[in-house]
Amino acid sequence: MKNQLLQALNWRYATKKYDPSFALSEEDKQTIETVLQLVPSSYGLQPLHFIWIEDQELREKTKTIAWNQQQITDAAAVLVLCAKNELTATDLDQHADLMRDTRGMTEEQIKGFRNHLHTAIGQKAAAEVKAWNGKQAYIALGQLLTACALLDLDATPMEGFDPVALDRLLNLEKDGLHSVLICPIGKRAADDHYQHLQKVRKPKKSIISVR
Ligand SMILES: Cc1cc2nc3c(=O)[nH]c(=O)nc-3n(C[C@H](O)[C@H](O)[C@H](O)COP(=O)(O)O)c2cc1C
Repeated sequence: MKNQLLQALNWRYATKKYDPSFALSEEDKQTIETVLQLVPSSYGLQPLHFIWIEDQELREKTKTIAWNQQQITDAAAVLVLCAKNELTATDLDQHADLMRDTRGMTEEQIKGFRNHLHTAIGQKAAAEVKAWNGKQAYIALGQLLTACALLDLDATPMEGFDPVALDRLLNLEKDGLHSVLICPIGKRAADDHYQHLQKVRKPKKSIISVR
């Protein structure tokens, strides 16, 4: 497993050119959805939503607001990682309810956690909550990229798009969401020369220390 993990992480790269003839199997798609469901988040609140962009016209329009990056129309699948704009008292209570019911707890047992959620998150300013939710999307991205590599699938993390335009295109405001990241997934094109480039990484000793 150790070798498999490191091999996969060395094999993966931010793919620039996809094989447009490759299709994602239903099994891989389901596995990716489970990976997204298992993503950890602060307090387990999962303030995220993931959208598969399957409609070709939507793909084209998404590409135009993403620096015309070809991966968006050529990859087998495109995921938009979105975060909630806010966390309402109802969101917090629904989370406490889900935990209570999933774990067979009594209301008495969950009360402390429920109150803590309301106190801790109630203290945050609206902009802080929105930014905090957005950070959780990056955790999902990291897990997604590693999972894709282990599944022998290529993926491209993308911040290179106009999030306000994408929110408008996907009508995200209506669902209380905003876009954070895009991630095309598929198979690298045989002639994507980026796959042959050496990985550029700082030496471990410059990024890791012991105190
Ligand atoms: C948050 C984030 C946003 C990125 N945005 C883009 C992007 O819009 N387009 C792109 O081609 N690559 C994008 N990249 C890829 C990075 O340039 C790439 O991961 C980095 O150079 C390291 O190379 P590697 O992933 O190929 O190992 C992004 C990466 C991350 C983590």
